[in-house]
Amino acid sequence: MALVLIGFMGAGKSSAARLLALRLGVESCDADEEIERSLGEPIPSFWEREGEEAFRAREREVVLGLLNSRAPAVLALGGGAVTDPQIRERLRDHIPIYLEVDADEAWARVGASDRPLAKDREAFAALLAQRRPLYESVAGLRMLWARTASGGYPVFVGAGASSVAGELWCGGERCFAIGDESALAHHRERLRAALADKVELAAELAVPAGESSKTMAQAEALLRELARAGMRRDDTLVALGGGVVGDLAGFCAAIYQRGVSVVQVPTTLVAQVDAAYGGKTGVDLPEAKNYVGVFHQPLEVIADPDLLRTLPAEELSAGFAEVIKTALIAGGSLWQMLDELAPVARLHDEDMRGLGRAIERCARTKLAIVAADEYDKGLRASLNLGHTFAHALESATGYAAYRHGEAVAIGLLVALRLSERELGLSPEVRERVISQCERHGLPTSFEGPPAQALLEHVARDKKVSAGGRRNLVLLRAPGDVALRCEVNDDALIAAIEEVRRS
Ligand SMILES: NC(=O)c1ccc[n+]([C@@H]2O[C@H](COP(=O)([O-])OP(=O)(O)OC[C@H]3O[C@@H](n4cnc5c(N)ncnc54)[C@H](O)[C@@H]3O)[C@@H](O)[C@H]2O)c1
Repeated sequence: MALVLIGFMGAGKSSAARLLALRLGVESCDADEEIERSLGEPIPSFWEREGEEAFRAREREVVLGLLNSRAPAVLALGGGAVTDPQIRERLRDHIPIYLEVDADEAWARVGASDRPLAKDREAFAALLAQRRPLYESVAGLRMLWARTASGGYPVFVGAGASSVAGELWCGGERCFAIGDESALAHHRERLRAALADKVELAAELAVPAGESSKTMAQAEALLRELARAGMRRDDTLVALGGGVVGDLAGFCAAIYQRGVSVVQVPTTLVAQVDAAYGGKTGVDLPEAKNYVGVFHQPLEVIADPDLLRTLPAEELSAGFAEVIKTALIAGGSLWQMLDELAPVARLHDEDMRGLGRAIERCARTKLAIVAADEYDKGLRASLNLGHTFAHALESATGYAAYRHGEAVAIGLLVALRLSERELGLSPEVRERVISQCERHGLPTSFEGPPAQALLEHVARDKKVSAGGRRNLVLLRAPGDVALRCEVNDDALIAAIEEVRRS
């Protein structure tokens, strides 16, 4: 089976195919280059002389030839190839992967070129809108290319991605898995079957569920188990679990023999929309959360929304708070898309395509932020929207009263109320977030510690309280985050009290 990259012109299929093939250690092929070879001239001149129909006929011939023969392992198709029913039919024997791009970005890349269908900006955007459903129906999987200082990595998102993990595998010939005990119980067989014949799965180490596993002691126990099992530097670690196992296994990978590769296979919504990307790994200390760790980017991420079917409803709800947060940061189509998503309570009956699309958008947003600020010196702080108050609420209630995602939902509402006062954010944004929280079973108000006590916990946050002032992440509008907003205590208390009472 070949990995066949599809999508509109300007999506970056040709360069992604080269990069992916390099990572997989296989051959790549660009269908348009093959067509030009067969035509003996550039596509635009042939198209101009002979017309689109003649071009499509030649395209069909070449692409079917490539797919029928011993197909190259990674193949990039031209933007219109999937309009051909015979090509679509033949793609069923392969793994089509959709690279999405929006009209602005695509136009910026190919608008000035001599491509026959990139002459008029409006017609170009209309064609993209027309083809999008076709791309989505042909490919269940999507791919993003994460850009980092260390060269980048592929992120695969889509229902069924974990079942073809062997085909998508960028790691070594042998791997070791560190798995959340629940994730392993539910999905061990799927992982084994997907890797069988492709990669030797030498050992599976189970980690007890919950944040209490994110410790130095647990990391040491795992490192010793890996050493006893004979893991070498050229082996690959697989992290199968939520954010806890992703952070913990990522940390083990970063420090085992000074660093081995890790493939993240996130199994919770929190991990699929956020934690699995960006390379922050680490553990908690009894004194504070996430206090020990290193940056260690994954070799690849395989995010399969099908794995979320076994997730308890409360965990799905909690994960949705991160979806809402990311939509507020991203604005645009992700913010618009929120209303289209099924309530989490119904998610188990869905085909997961809608959720897969939202997960990909969230991953895209996070990866863009990480690409701009990999080591958390500035912009990456925007991902903290709503988290300052969430952490204060969690620690003031001894981490027992609220799930992290529930606290984030409340934290977002406090941040939005403050944003209205300080930055003139439209109240409609908060109203929409409230209705989203209600729709997905998230709280919109809270009981418990008085505002003054919560403020003390806010003050302990080093990032927030430098120099005795409160520096918070706020929002001017969806898609327009304001970093380091100085807020006085009275305003903060007022916002906290309003959300408490609402
Ligand atoms: N590295 C980052 O950038 C980053 C970002 C956000 C959060 N995090 C970290 O992520 C952690 C929270 O992650 P989380 O919310 O995924 O929690 P989690 O990893 O504890 O998982 C939540 C629960 O779901 C269970 N579970 C996991 N997958 C399952 C599945 N497929 N089916 C059934 N049950 C399953 C687990 O056993 C656990 O009980 C925190 O430690 C946080 O610090 C890290």
